[in-house]
Amino acid sequence: DRPTVMVTGGAGYIGSHAVLALRDAGWPVVVVDTLVTGFRAAVPDDVPFIQADVGDMTAMGDAIAAHGVGAIMHFAGSVVVPESVTDPLKYYRNNTAASRALIEAAVIGGVRHFIFSSTAATYGIPETNPVAEGAPQRPINPYGMSKLMTEAMLADVAAAHPLNYCALRYFNVAGADPQGRAGQSTAGATHLIKIAAEAATGKRDSVAVFGTDFATPDGTGVRDYIHVTDLAAAHLLALEALIADPATSHRLNCGYGRGFSVLEVLDAVDRVTNMPIMRRLEGRRAGDPDALVADSAEIRRRFGWRPQLDDLDTIVTHALAWERRLGPR
Ligand code: UFG
Repeated sequence: DRPTVMVTGGAGYIGSHAVLALRDAGWPVVVVDTLVTGFRAAVPDDVPFIQADVGDMTAMGDAIAAHGVGAIMHFAGSVVVPESVTDPLKYYRNNTAASRALIEAAVIGGVRHFIFSSTAATYGIPETNPVAEGAPQRPINPYGMSKLMTEAMLADVAAAHPLNYCALRYFNVAGADPQGRAGQSTAGATHLIKIAAEAATGKRDSVAVFGTDFATPDGTGVRDYIHVTDLAAAHLLALEALIADPATSHRLNCGYGRGFSVLEVLDAVDRVTNMPIMRRLEGRRAGDPDALVADSAEIRRRFGWRPQLDDLDTIVTHALAWERRLGPR
């Protein structure tokens, strides 16, 4: 009676954690991934796997029919903000156009529930922090715009067809499965905690601190770092909520509602390893807001989401454990 959940991008960082959470909770799952940035080994052997692009409507229609898919968690996409500035059409293809094709396949295939990986980048530079869902969405890069356009498509489709959706706007996702089954494997990552974990395990000699003159207590950028396993749990709650109330859709922030500066993150890494990593003070990256912190009241209220791993040292400890497990570069 539980519908099969199709997880796109299920071989990637966040998607692979969602697959574990679904499987641990007994949901039937099928994974779709191109393996362009994902890893086949990230998908458990007992989970059906289809190597395909979500932009391929025929392949998606076939997969939906063959597996009796009733809900989709759509993680697949491109995620590197600076790359989206130099190659915007890649983002409008892999994020916006591919999502459009997947949503159409979902509508035609009778899929009733759709959970979408959106981003805090849809808010651009927020006027106030913490940022609530009703704040203006004015992305400052093609990545954020490509995701915002997908949110807009989902709203229109949900109004016209028997499908409800939940767009989860992720803040800064970090950490790894506490049991060590999954983590962030992507090479050439740009995310602070991943980079710091690489430095702490000898794969880099230092970490750059991008900007020391932000309007924050210590001058470095402040972000809302959320453990990937708490984020995966939010997806399960979203799925249950969409099924329980098919008339309601959701657009919700996924963060903890507190921020840490770059220096505080690096201090946590030093604390956990008991070994200082070298810091290089550099200029700002283009487009970085001073601070980006979620107002997370709404997801807690609607879904009863109660994070279990809201602790910076825990996030860092799990990221480091995975980085060690990955072995030398
Ligand atoms: N930073 C450094 N040094 C680094 C990497 C990052 O100082 O080597 C700083 C950044 O300047 C920023 C903070 O660490 O202040 C976090 O940077 P990340 O690159 O880890 O993350 P961002 O906040 O820039 O962006 C992330 C995701 C986006 C998503 C966004 C939404 O990468 O995909 O969060 O909040 F859209």
